[in-house]
Amino acid sequence: MKTIFLVFLNKLKALKSLRFLLIVLFFLAGIIPAIIISEAVVENYRTRAVSVRTTEAVDQSRILATRLDSEGYFLNPENDSINSEMDLLAGIYNGRIIITDNRFVIIHDTYDLSNGRTMISQEIIKCFSSGAGSSVYDQENEYIEICVPVSNIKTGETEGVLFVSAATGMIRDTEDVLNRKLNIMLFTMALLLFALSLFVSYLLTRPFKRITAAISSVKEGFGEAQISIPDYTETEAIMDAFNNLMGRLKILDESRDEFVSNVSHELKTPLTSMKVLADSLISADEVSNETYREFMIDIAEEVDREDKIINDLLSMVKMDKATEEINAEDTDINALIELLLKRLRPIADKKGVQIVFESKRLVNAEVDRTKFTLAIMNLVENAVKYNKENGWIRVGLDSDHQFFTITVSDSGIGIPEDSVDHIFERFYRVDKSHSREIGGTGLGLAITRSSILMHRGAIKVSSVEGEGTTFTVRVPLKYVAV
Ligand SMILES: Nc1ncnc2c1ncn2[C@@H]1O[C@H](COP(=O)(O)OP(=O)(O)OP(=O)(O)O)[C@@H](O)[C@H]1O
Ligand SMILES: [Mg+2]
Repeated sequence: MKTIFLVFLNKLKALKSLRFLLIVLFFLAGIIPAIIISEAVVENYRTRAVSVRTTEAVDQSRILATRLDSEGYFLNPENDSINSEMDLLAGIYNGRIIITDNRFVIIHDTYDLSNGRTMISQEIIKCFSSGAGSSVYDQENEYIEICVPVSNIKTGETEGVLFVSAATGMIRDTEDVLNRKLNIMLFTMALLLFALSLFVSYLLTRPFKRITAAISSVKEGFGEAQISIPDYTETEAIMDAFNNLMGRLKILDESRDEFVSNVSHELKTPLTSMKVLADSLISADEVSNETYREFMIDIAEEVDREDKIINDLLSMVKMDKATEEINAEDTDINALIELLLKRLRPIADKKGVQIVFESKRLVNAEVDRTKFTLAIMNLVENAVKYNKENGWIRVGLDSDHQFFTITVSDSGIGIPEDSVDHIFERFYRVDKSHSREIGGTGLGLAITRSSILMHRGAIKVSSVEGEGTTFTVRVPLKYVAV
């Protein structure tokens, strides 16, 4: 039972395939018009054949009616020549000829069955009253009924009626032959169409198989070669998109490798320093207490540095996680900035750097306080770190009805033009030796940017080397969850 169900399921899947769809469409597009046309041909033949036969029989009946009048048949119905002519005509039409006089009495019947009887039918009455003939095709019983009045040429009076029924069985026979031939033709055509639709669908879907094969062959590792399937514009577009995707994955792969090597390098540096410091203490014969202290202070600094790098890495990984929930709360941004500036002022004072907070209005916004503080803190920290002695820092705050903007400007060393595009990259530092002296890891701005993006905001920088730098952060007042 289960296997039957699975087979059925597989069959259903096959119905969804493009190839199956093409076969069905192509086949139907060919066969349906053919069936309609053949039906129309038969119908057309039938109408024409009936019409020709009717005209012919009506003409013959009229000629006969004229003769009946001219030879005074109603006075002498035993006219052998006319009677035998009528027999002949009835034979030709495989039918029957009946003649009634003006009292509806049958005076001649080629079947010799109803002589002397009265025959009243609607057609006959109409024939007498209007003096015009009529013809009716009875498709079911396969004959044509013709009614022709026999009028006296001199008086114009209707003397009697000529009633002819002509069989149309012959038309049906021809129709059957025609149908049989058409059916054979349709069957042959269906076979040919099926074969053709198999072939065409194969041709049309072949590139998709090649695409699947090409994509499967990529598996792992991003080869340099670009895959090209130029069969159709569409397949080319798919492959272009695929190649682009592969290119992006390659860049991601490379940046991941670079990141891992950067992390290892950064983590190793303080360890190496500690090892050198410790080794030199161990290898020295006599070391004064003072030197010990000095070395131990250096070792403690390196431990702090290691600790900072690990903490930075942890915050960055947290911010990077797409699933990381943001805890947006309604926050007094003015108070938040005041608080973080209070924490940073002692460090700025050491360098004689003055921090000014210029707020244009009171701003309340929905932000994750921890993550947002981290972002702005990094910016102000940088403004202190990369400032000149006795420089200044201006922190600005403004808002419109949708966004609030924070600017952090400094009178520092500035960022060279070719570095501006890279400062948000992880571990990127403009001047590695100098930055090391200052004590950076190059993760601060990467963390800031992730945090601002998590708040659906944007960050940009403008800087003039030697003059100073301005970072501008723009964040929606209301947090929009996606
Ligand atoms: N205000 C600024 N003025 C001049 N250069 C800056 C400024 N802010 C950042 N930079 C440059 O951009 C680099 C990257 O900054 P980022 O904050 O990411 O790292 P860092 O300050 O070196 O280290 P971390 O912040 O991780 O301790 C810095 O090393 C510095 O060269
Ligand atoms: Mg920094």
